[in-house]
Amino acid sequence: MNFNDKTVLITGANRGIGEALVRACLEKQVKKIYACSRQLEKLPQFNDSRIVPIMLDISSREQIEQATLLCKDTQILINNAGTLNPGSVFEGDLISFKHDMKINYFSTIEMMRAFVPVIEKNTDPRIVNICSIAIYVNFPFNAGYSASKAALYSISQAARIELSQKNIPVHIVNPGAIDTDMNKGSTMEMTAPIDVARSILSEVEREIEDIIPDKIGREMY
Ligand SMILES: NC(=O)c1ccc[n+]([C@@H]2O[C@H](COP(=O)([O-])OP(=O)(O)OC[C@H]3O[C@@H](n4cnc5c(N)ncnc54)[C@H](OP(=O)(O)O)[C@@H]3O)[C@@H](O)[C@H]2O)c1
Repeated sequence: MNFNDKTVLITGANRGIGEALVRACLEKQVKKIYACSRQLEKLPQFNDSRIVPIMLDISSREQIEQATLLCKDTQILINNAGTLNPGSVFEGDLISFKHDMKINYFSTIEMMRAFVPVIEKNTDPRIVNICSIAIYVNFPFNAGYSASKAALYSISQAARIELSQKNIPVHIVNPGAIDTDMNKGSTMEMTAPIDVARSILSEVEREIEDIIPDKIGREMY
């Protein structure tokens, strides 16, 4: 598989790993990128005619539906958008736990359900779900987030089996520590988003199903 001439949709494309995935796709000679963001004005100036900005809050069923109509030629769906609310089991705010579960798990399921009928009509369809290294071992200070990503990992495995009948591969990406707003204030050594994005794309091209795209993630694993 390769990204040349492919049409890719990326959620949460306005910053962090999502923005870097857009830039890495542009390096790969893709045909088109639907760069999705909750607010279009937040999208960086990519200065490339292959970028099509799409307003998409993945917690909105109406906006997902609208995106399926606007992005009918999508071949590769990259579910990158996610939230992290810190907190331990006993001291964390349950509303925050529910929010992470809603976005990282339920809204990502809604994206897959809405877009499978779209991508299956196109050639070389595939899904890439950005989970986390926290799916393997819960980080107790981010307990609710870790659980939401473990849930996403589990349902992505189910999607992978179900979609194998339609020849739609489902890649699961489990990054370790990436230098984005999500880790703002952390002093630990972290991988640059562009390096992780390039690594994700090259592992997808190698048809690797479960991807740990960074050195720290691999060490944690
Ligand atoms: N950074 C890491 O070390 C790390 C490690 C493992 C996994 N991950 C995962 O990688 C993905 C990207 O994370 P990141 O580090 O790039 O984080 P980030 O810099 O905080 O970016 C998160 C992105 O998700 C978007 N988003 C949040 N809620 C959304 C919603 N309801 N609808 C649409 N977009 C929404 C944000 O949009 P707004 O700007 O509008 O908020 C932003 O574009 C996430 O799934 C995260 O869990 C990150």
